[in-house]
Amino acid sequence: MKLGVNIDHVATLRQARGTVYPDPLDAAILCGRAGAHGITAHLREDRRHIQDDDIFRLKELQPLPLNLEMANVESIIEIALNVKPAEVCLVPEKRQELTTEGGLDVVAHFDAIQPTVQCLSEAGIEVSLFVDADEMTIAACKDTGAPVIELHTGTYCDAEPNDRAVHMEQLIRSADYAHSLGLKVNAGHGINLENLGGILCIPHLDTLNIGHSIICRAVFQGIEGAVKEMLVGMQEYEG
Ligand code: PXP
Repeated sequence: MKLGVNIDHVATLRQARGTVYPDPLDAAILCGRAGAHGITAHLREDRRHIQDDDIFRLKELQPLPLNLEMANVESIIEIALNVKPAEVCLVPEKRQELTTEGGLDVVAHFDAIQPTVQCLSEAGIEVSLFVDADEMTIAACKDTGAPVIELHTGTYCDAEPNDRAVHMEQLIRSADYAHSLGLKVNAGHGINLENLGGILCIPHLDTLNIGHSIICRAVFQGIEGAVKEMLVGMQEYEG
């Protein structure tokens, strides 16, 4: 299983003071040195952390594949087509949210999502859809032609440990179902060293995308240390 490190919150620190540091590109290079397999960045419509220029530099100036998280809106699609990241993960986006809340409603928004999947795929970008663990939604993902889903693990991760079992059952069922449809399965949101053990019970995972907890640990451990300790935890995965 691979680790994609989301470096948005390096840019959050930078934007807090309007400085040129810390640079998410420097962070991405260090993540690569520590063994991360990919870099994820979310270009939000409100540009609260990652800026357009960051995306171009992350694509050109560091060696890991870039996974661009983005909303399904025309202006950002245009940027994606210019940058051509290895992967785009389509996410729902609300201006007031602290972070991505809930997965894409692919059933309700199928007619808007399918053409975007097609257009990005034709440009050679692997498209992933960030969705809740729900079989009807996953079936709709398959119908869009997207080859990848990212299961939203936030509900599981944010639940009290005693309440997590029901969410885990749903994640396991959804991963099995997506795999049976031939979809590649990633997972992300809210994953940290404390809840990682549970996440490792989800079958068929290709990549975990982890941001906030790694950047928080980096304050004390350095970012290479934070990436390495996550990779050590992930070694237990049996698939
Ligand atoms: N995957 C997706 C689609 C996300 O939107 C986010 C948050 O930007 C993450 C993964 C990473 O979540 P976290 O920062 O909680 O690790």
